[in-house]
Amino acid sequence: AKDQGWVLSHLYQYQGFWHPSRQLEGVITCQRHFQARDTDIILTTSPKCGTTWLKALAYVVVNRKTNTPTIGATGNNKQNHPLVTNNPHELVPFLELKVYVDHQVPDLTQMPSPRLFSTHLPVDSLPLSIKETGCKVVYLGRDPKDAFISLWHFANKLRPPHGGKISLEEAFDKFCKGVSLCGPFWDHVLSYWNYSLDNPNTVFFLKYEDLKHQPKLHLKKLAEFWGCPFSLEEENNGVVDDILSLCSFEILSNFEVNKFGKLSSGEDNKAFFRKGQVGDSANYLTKEMIHKFDQISLTKFHLSGLNF
Ligand code: A3P
Repeated sequence: AKDQGWVLSHLYQYQGFWHPSRQLEGVITCQRHFQARDTDIILTTSPKCGTTWLKALAYVVVNRKTNTPTIGATGNNKQNHPLVTNNPHELVPFLELKVYVDHQVPDLTQMPSPRLFSTHLPVDSLPLSIKETGCKVVYLGRDPKDAFISLWHFANKLRPPHGGKISLEEAFDKFCKGVSLCGPFWDHVLSYWNYSLDNPNTVFFLKYEDLKHQPKLHLKKLAEFWGCPFSLEEENNGVVDDILSLCSFEILSNFEVNKFGKLSSGEDNKAFFRKGQVGDSANYLTKEMIHKFDQISLTKFHLSGLNF
């Protein structure tokens, strides 16, 4: 099935989910060729659920012995950190959007472990080796209403000037019908929720809202899950706080590279930073829209134990 699309190009339905046409070839190549390793870390999300933030955190945590995360008063150390000069999407590449594009099948065997990758693919579309190895998968989910509003803004930012803006009503209608980037949104998140319940040792399900409310607690859990827990000494030296600060919306979005740079795929880095808050959808959605969203969530998540 094909839809005219409201984010990026036309959307095509593949294995039950909607993908932009330019992404489909990457999806298929990655499914065929990606060989996961036990030591890999795979970050999975629906678009606009905090992927950029999770990538920054994972990159800094995993590489903290080589790149000190401190952003001390002088800013000296900060200047040296790769996150200052690279958007997180360049440091942790999407399998289907960056690694396997243009029919490329790069040799990833020389990359040092742990390798960090990300994907928007739903569970059933993941390359088989991800499920067959013991690699660590983290899913970051987000309240559907906030994810939708974030996606709507993102779509309008990326649309070419002559393409016109998509109205909130039209975007809402499509999103609710499941027609959105990697949608249906509810099936995507539910697929990972169930997957995490079945594989608690290799799949970590986290909500954007929880990471926002208790960042320290969840970052410590993530580091442990990734096999690089914080030592007491690190905690006492403020390393966890330094990492959270370096990756915070305020600091990250204000780096020159994120204000003025572009991804190799062409998007402005600043498109990935808007407000970074919980509950912003309340400023946009009507009562009726909220009701409809909540009804869909109730029906889809019924008896699953998942809620936002
Ligand atoms: P909003 O549009 O609600 O502000 P993704 O990275 O998956 O594309 O998600 C983008 C959303 O995450 C945007 O949400 C963006 O502002 C928010 N975001 C980006 N960096 C963040 C950070 N460091 N901390 C919290 N939220 C962040």
